[in-house]
Amino acid sequence: MCGIVGYIGKKKALPILINSLKTLEYRGYDSSGIAYMINNEIKIVKDVGKINVLENKINLEVNTYMGIGHTRWATHGGVTINNSHPHRVGNITLVHNGIIENYLELKNKLIDLDYKFIGETDSEVLCALIDYYYNKTENIIHTIEKVIKEIKGSYATAIIVDDDYDNIYVIRKDSPLIIGIGNDENFIASDVPAILGYTNKYILLNDYDIAKISNKEITVYNNGSIVKKDINEFEYENDVVSKQGYNHYMLKEIHEVSSLVRNNLVDNLRNIPDIKKYKNIYIVACGSAYHAGLIGKNMLEELINKPVYVEIASEFRYKKLFLDKEDLVIIISQSGETADTLASLRVAKEYGTTTLGIVNVFGSSIAREASIVVYTNALIEIAVATTKAFVMQLYTLGLIAIKNSNIRYSDVISNYRLLANQVDSILENNIYKEVAKLIYKEKDIFFLGRGIDYYIAMEGNLKLKEIAYIHSESYPAGELKHGTIALIEKDTPVISVITNNIIKDKILSNIKEVISRGAKSIIVATDDIKIDKSYYDILIQVPTNIDVLKPILAIIPLQLLAYEVALLNNCDIDKPRNLAKSVTVE
Ligand code: AGP
Repeated sequence: MCGIVGYIGKKKALPILINSLKTLEYRGYDSSGIAYMINNEIKIVKDVGKINVLENKINLEVNTYMGIGHTRWATHGGVTINNSHPHRVGNITLVHNGIIENYLELKNKLIDLDYKFIGETDSEVLCALIDYYYNKTENIIHTIEKVIKEIKGSYATAIIVDDDYDNIYVIRKDSPLIIGIGNDENFIASDVPAILGYTNKYILLNDYDIAKISNKEITVYNNGSIVKKDINEFEYENDVVSKQGYNHYMLKEIHEVSSLVRNNLVDNLRNIPDIKKYKNIYIVACGSAYHAGLIGKNMLEELINKPVYVEIASEFRYKKLFLDKEDLVIIISQSGETADTLASLRVAKEYGTTTLGIVNVFGSSIAREASIVVYTNALIEIAVATTKAFVMQLYTLGLIAIKNSNIRYSDVISNYRLLANQVDSILENNIYKEVAKLIYKEKDIFFLGRGIDYYIAMEGNLKLKEIAYIHSESYPAGELKHGTIALIEKDTPVISVITNNIIKDKILSNIKEVISRGAKSIIVATDDIKIDKSYYDILIQVPTNIDVLKPILAIIPLQLLAYEVALLNNCDIDKPRNLAKSVTVE
């Protein structure tokens, strides 16, 4: 949940560190800091608040050519300067993303060895532990090998050692870390966007890798031996990390959907695995990816006629499981780094099951550890609240359902070809601003749906909560009357999703029940569903299509509505409070 960066080369380091940190701010933005070498000493500048607070405290023109940086999402210890990174203890300066689970035990051991701590973080303990062993071994590689045997948890860490200013050292386990390769310069980052302005060549580190990075060389050690690493090239449009004229990444990313579905048509199909052969099919994920899993469940059960069990990853990883090698566990994750989801993948593999990763970030931990991986090809998604990546999860799940059904792809290719234009028509509709004005001051909002529409409502509900900070909840429409309807008062907004003609009359009856108690009814419905005006204050109609494509058409209006409401509430849309793009801690 934090972002780490590093630079060593021939250019002035501070502008590079600051720019790189800004592209990682979506990973956490409670506080930030940098450490760099000047006049043969390490200087640290850090503060609470966003990167621009840090930027205003430094002189970018300083003649320094190496440094590390960090943007923090607090896990251990409050948002204070002492808890912000970089940390420095003795001869060691470091930044860390992850959680050292046994840090208290280590802290007590170090306090007994006369170490003093100024903060509350596990990262400061990690820094002191490295310093302790470095003083004993005077060899940083041996030191790190000792340390990684003693610590438990997750880490992506960049380290500067006093008087060894020609190198930066990095280690990683579970938390993502890449090394960007330049000409007489090298870069360290938690994620690809941080290096794209400088290079598209990078290497991925595996768990327990230790890398020694100078401006000309990268040496990677693992378990005492030097290991060779492949060089990856990230294919991207030059301005993939710019907002391209949109006010927010989130809006830009929603508007990318039509080109994504237009461009990904057949490629994805080729990579879709046969899943019919498995005895039981599970889907495991968190947050929006979990909602995609529920929608995928509906698609798969309808088309391949097999039960699909969907689990929240943080529950799945600790519960009693009945998996075996004939089962399939589908792991959905945009970042491919979510701690609970990655842990669930590893638990599933212990039972010998086949694991299928549906992932957006190339080379991410889940992508590398799953038995099979299908990329959603949504390109880089920077806004913390997922939109296009979520849509491409639905798109991919739909293709999996179709490919494993009796439907011939040629029978539906025209529906897929229609989708992009249908998405464009949804994006061109201005109704979302009108609806937003109706609800942005509300304190409680309800989302209703039945069947797959309930799962779509769950995602619309999450979007509104996480970027507009309005309490809302999603409910199976038929369930509301079993208690929660007591909360419906005059003008309580109720947003219903209707894409299924078969049960439309049932949900319309539920809508009547809330209207009769004073609710304001807003309906998102496909245009094949005829609805009398008495059922709504506002109707948002979207084009209809085949069943596996309707959820894409229904969720985009809810994403745009959440965006417009957040705008009216002056929220930080791309970096909502308390959130991080990749939840790499439990
Ligand atoms: C999405 O808008 C949320 N920010 C969050 O629920 C997210 O979907 C969840 O953390 C899972 O992330 P992943 O897809 O990267 O695993």
